Amino acid sequence: MSPAPVRVALLGRGTVGREVMRLLVEQADELAARVGAPVELAGVAVRRAHRHTDVPAELLTTDASGLVSRPDVDVVVEVIGGIEPARGLLLDALKAGRAVVTANKALLAEDGATLAEAANASGADLYYEASVAGAIPLLRPLRESLVGDKITRVAGIVNGTTNYILSAMAEHGTGYREALEKATELGFAEADPTADVDGLDAQAKAAILASLAFHTRVTAADVYCEGISSVTAADLVAAKAVGCTVKLLAICERVVTPGGEAGEGESVSARVYPAMIPASHPLASVGEAYNAVFVEAEAAGQLMFYGQGAGGAPTASAVLGDLVAVARNRVAGGHGPRESAYASLPIQPMGRIPTRYHISLAVQDRAGVLATIAGLFARHEVSIATVRQDMTARQMGARGARLVIVTHAAPDAALAATVAALGELDQVFGVDRVLRVENLGRPVSALGVA
Ligand code: HSE
Repeated sequence: MSPAPVRVALLGRGTVGREVMRLLVEQADELAARVGAPVELAGVAVRRAHRHTDVPAELLTTDASGLVSRPDVDVVVEVIGGIEPARGLLLDALKAGRAVVTANKALLAEDGATLAEAANASGADLYYEASVAGAIPLLRPLRESLVGDKITRVAGIVNGTTNYILSAMAEHGTGYREALEKATELGFAEADPTADVDGLDAQAKAAILASLAFHTRVTAADVYCEGISSVTAADLVAAKAVGCTVKLLAICERVVTPGGEAGEGESVSARVYPAMIPASHPLASVGEAYNAVFVEAEAAGQLMFYGQGAGGAPTASAVLGDLVAVARNRVAGGHGPRESAYASLPIQPMGRIPTRYHISLAVQDRAGVLATIAGLFARHEVSIATVRQDMTARQMGARGARLVIVTHAAPDAALAATVAALGELDQVFGVDRVLRVENLGRPVSALGVA
């Protein structure tokens, strides 16, 4: 007797949905061979049917809820994005025991726990490789391959659109607006690209990565987030001048607190912000919409994952990988890994995380100014690593000079308070630029600081 087909409901037919459908049709024979049963489309739910005249009419529906609850559907693939109606549809599917494959990082980062609980209760599979870093297999390595190890850090570039913009600005001098338009045209950006440039997309991905890496529920609200809209061409020039480049980083770390008032223990830091990194760091050469993520684990050491992090076909590749996995589980009568949140580590607020700042400020050029500024850093217990005066009084105007100060690591709150206090000094005309500096475990030799 030939095995019963695995029937798939596809929710959404945008940039990713189209590619998922194409691959499902074009690779039907191979997929059937790999799964051990045919994988068939049961239906495709879209918002506006008239835009999808190339889809056979019997597959097309605008009733997503009706499609999800059809008894002949085994797997629901969701690529519509956003919180609702996706959440309601996926909860209905999971409660009914249907496997779910989703690319919906916003939903997973906001309410992944509810989805996971529904999946646990019914025994249904919940897979979401496509939600982070497009085609790059990253979640499965965290969930399965590295699950015997202790992960200490997951850090890198997880947003293709902002990487495309920053790379175009730094390498070709492209304007911010123009670069964003191009990234949107190429299908990298979210439906609302402010989710990319404000860092929200990377924030959601960081929450998902931290949850998996540290066996702890981390939501988007737990992830400190700054986007790239304040990064200027002048920032990129300043970074280049000291042998660095600027990248939007997502950093998830296991923090070990050695004693003190709060007591010894482990916690989690998850954060997203643009930062200067040495041009010699492998992340500096990640261009266009590519993503790259370093995973560090106690036994494995450092691993690097690199590839296409955005776009229809790359993201569809990850969706199809999950689809084959859940279909195989169905055919074999098993299920994939469940949510693992047993560690339940506390989340560290950003203010307590040690970071380093690169600060550029316009100051009076006369005796004692540097001493006053150094005193202010000392009062905030922030150690200065390097100071450079990169503009003479003549270039700045009669009374001014530009100082560029790079700090050693200090709690982020102390650095932020130092910058605020600098702005209040009579001797300071203005704080022009503040960027964090990250060495991601390597010496920042470019800045003369080990
Ligand atoms: N807008 C996202 C990006 C798509 O630019 O990375 C992939 O999640």
